[in-house]
Amino acid sequence: MHTLDSSKINIQISSEKEYDVFVGRGFHDSLFQKLASLQASSYFIISQKGLGPFFFNDFLDQLKKHLEIPDKQICMIEGGEENKHLSRLGPVYNQIIDAGADRKSVILAVGGGVVGDFAGFVAATIQRGVRFVQIPSTLLSAVDASVGGKVAINVDRGKNMVGAFHQPELVYFNLDLLKTLPEKEWNCGLAEMVKHGFLDSQGQIYPFLLENTVHLRDPASDLLKKAVMDSIAFKASVVARDEKESGLRAILNLGHTTAHALESFTEYSRFSHGEAVSRGLVTMMYLSEEILGLPEADTKSMIDLMQKLNLPLDTAGISADDLLEHLKYDKKTVGGIPQFVLLRRRGDYEYGVKVSEESFQKAWNRQKAQFG
Ligand SMILES: NC(=O)c1ccc[n+]([C@@H]2O[C@H](COP(=O)([O-])OP(=O)(O)OC[C@H]3O[C@@H](n4cnc5c(N)ncnc54)[C@H](O)[C@@H]3O)[C@@H](O)[C@H]2O)c1
Repeated sequence: MHTLDSSKINIQISSEKEYDVFVGRGFHDSLFQKLASLQASSYFIISQKGLGPFFFNDFLDQLKKHLEIPDKQICMIEGGEENKHLSRLGPVYNQIIDAGADRKSVILAVGGGVVGDFAGFVAATIQRGVRFVQIPSTLLSAVDASVGGKVAINVDRGKNMVGAFHQPELVYFNLDLLKTLPEKEWNCGLAEMVKHGFLDSQGQIYPFLLENTVHLRDPASDLLKKAVMDSIAFKASVVARDEKESGLRAILNLGHTTAHALESFTEYSRFSHGEAVSRGLVTMMYLSEEILGLPEADTKSMIDLMQKLNLPLDTAGISADDLLEHLKYDKKTVGGIPQFVLLRRRGDYEYGVKVSEESFQKAWNRQKAQFG
């Protein structure tokens, strides 16, 4: 279950666990009050270097002052996916333990999805689990990573291979943080919002996105705020029905099977996650047409939306064979056969659909013929 008002979404995970996601601008005071009401014995911030000046000069500064957080309780990790790694955990655990954390401490994860996943994993494991709060600073972490309680780190054998389900106490998204977000990073959030639009069986997210594409890269826009809230509410509705991914939650991987292969083939260095996801969504539509009879008009409507949002759709000079090698190692692959989430229609999905090498080649080559 989830409820939505003008700036708050309530997520009911179970009878014991619920939390609010706040979306707005310049509402620091209400955040500080809510954080204070958690009555933590101590607050720790895990954040990252390289966020914009608004973040450092305004937001983080005020957070430190209001909650009286000394520097020793602030862990700054390096940004970037490579730092969400097992090898970076030791120093952070040591710092937090040395600074006197106990079971009533609260960790604030302030940053993009990398920080959210990493800090959430620290919170899930230190002292066998302490409370934490997600304060996302990217569009992707707002609409996706910070909601739902999946936390993880990377190990040498793969991304997100070690993790836990650990729900936050509160998620607070200040749209002002997006003022400094680089263009490439907007693509990541927008691609996930398109994904939600095509999974949403209520059918309201997609037309709203289509109608408002010109506002969706503007942090000051209330239309962006509504689109973000709709997207969070959609994700919340899925997580509320299947917190631990025993089934339905797998639909959130729409477009991601190809995306993960693209990222893995290019060693996570060429594309942002969203650039891989937007290409993967096109492949998924072509596969859906062939395997589940998705109407071509639905594919066209997704392509239309993604083109209006300037999301990349091409195959980037990569061959189907290159990707097939990597599809074999996808977490959802069973017996060497990749399992995709596909669509029968917009809002009508099926997960765990086996896709043969031939079908994948056909879809990828069609994408290459159409978009280069
Ligand atoms: N837990 C989940 O359910 C879930 C879901 C989706 C993605 N993820 C994870 O999220 C991560 C990706 O998250 P992301 O896309 O937010 O990437 P990210 O955390 O790496 O941030 C992207 C870049 O933007 C910069 N940045 C962040 N906020 C900024 C701001 N306000 N102004 C200027 N620059 C800013 C960062 O320094 C970084 O360079 C991946 O590790 C992925 O596995 C997790």
